[in-house]
Amino acid sequence: MASTSASTPSLPPVQTVWRIVRSGDPAKALVKDENAPVPKKIPKGYVLVKIQAASLNPVGFKLMQLAPNSFLQRVAENDFAGEVVDPNGEPRFKIGDQVFGTIPIPDSIKTGQGALAQYSYAPAKSIAHRPEGIPPNEASGIPIVAVTAHAALYQIGKLEAGQRIFINGGTTSVGLYAVQIAKALGCKVYASASGKNEEFLRNLGVDEFYDYTKQPIHEALVQNPPSSKFDVILEAVGNAFVPLYTHSEAYLAPNGAYISVGPTPHGLGETLSLLWNVFLRPKWAGGTRRRFKFIIPSKTGELLDEIAKMITDGKVKPFIDSVYKFDDVLSAYDKILIGHARGKIVVETA
Ligand SMILES: NC(=O)c1ccc[n+]([C@@H]2O[C@H](COP(=O)([O-])OP(=O)(O)OC[C@H]3O[C@@H](n4cnc5c(N)ncnc54)[C@H](OP(=O)(O)O)[C@@H]3O)[C@@H](O)[C@H]2O)c1
Repeated sequence: MASTSASTPSLPPVQTVWRIVRSGDPAKALVKDENAPVPKKIPKGYVLVKIQAASLNPVGFKLMQLAPNSFLQRVAENDFAGEVVDPNGEPRFKIGDQVFGTIPIPDSIKTGQGALAQYSYAPAKSIAHRPEGIPPNEASGIPIVAVTAHAALYQIGKLEAGQRIFINGGTTSVGLYAVQIAKALGCKVYASASGKNEEFLRNLGVDEFYDYTKQPIHEALVQNPPSSKFDVILEAVGNAFVPLYTHSEAYLAPNGAYISVGPTPHGLGETLSLLWNVFLRPKWAGGTRRRFKFIIPSKTGELLDEIAKMITDGKVKPFIDSVYKFDDVLSAYDKILIGHARGKIVVETA
């Protein structure tokens, strides 16, 4: 575990943060505040961190675009790597510890803290020590997506060695962890992405590849189902993919699980289809006879320790798409908004 000096650093009175001030796309929603106070009073259960790097997650810009203004008055983003400057009585941490973690959205809404800052306090239970072999840029990209993939496969999917999993979105940041965790477990992995990512995914160990730009994925799977049905489907792109679920009796085992990372349907039609087909439609009226689960991960700190161990053991590798300077946050958002990054988009805050 990495650790540096143990003396209390003198903190500057002010810092630079990227603050959400109104709803809209990031260019409209965000302002750079160079005169934000460095937190002095840290609530119990939180640790003050000098942030070295932050990474973007789609939920960051989705909330900016969708949430009403009153939910938004806070520093942007959640995932970070940094150095503890005030452990605030938390016994697991001391000054100088190198850490990574996340400020969960409910905490961020309550406290106003966020990762696009030079100093932020985060819940001690959502932070772990950063192993020396994982540099801050890589570590900042781990928390939300790796914890989500891990929780989906183990806690919800109960995936076991030798089973079959289909990962819709093998190159999403969640998907990249899911592919690697499933392969490390000894599973047969089927995954989708656009054709340019086929070789990359096969090199990661993906056994069967589906190009979603050629044909809707549910059609490809109905026409050419796996020899034994999948034990788990992880929908890792994020708009629930209702047809992939409603056709799943053809390719998902009866006791298998369809796990979705998030319900962000495009427009009213998809929203109504999701509500009817997934939550309301009775089985006798054609409802799909398969388990559907949304994933909301918990126990972040514990899972971060486990994931860090998988990385240091060489079982899983973090992927970075691109790195931006702190002044250039809006370009980082331009990249994530396009939706075709392969790995995390990182912002160096130090
Ligand atoms: N429930 C939770 O707690 C939780 C946690 C984390 C993330 N999420 C959600 O999970 C989703 C993914 O997040 P992320 O950060 O992993 O995304 P990301 O890294 O930004 O995803 C980018 C990737 O998506 C792929 N992609 C785009 N459209 C696709 C499609 N139709 N089929 C297959 N692949 C497609 C792109 O591959 P190509 O270039 O080949 O198109 C690209 O590599 C988001 O909706 C996010 O909000 C939920």
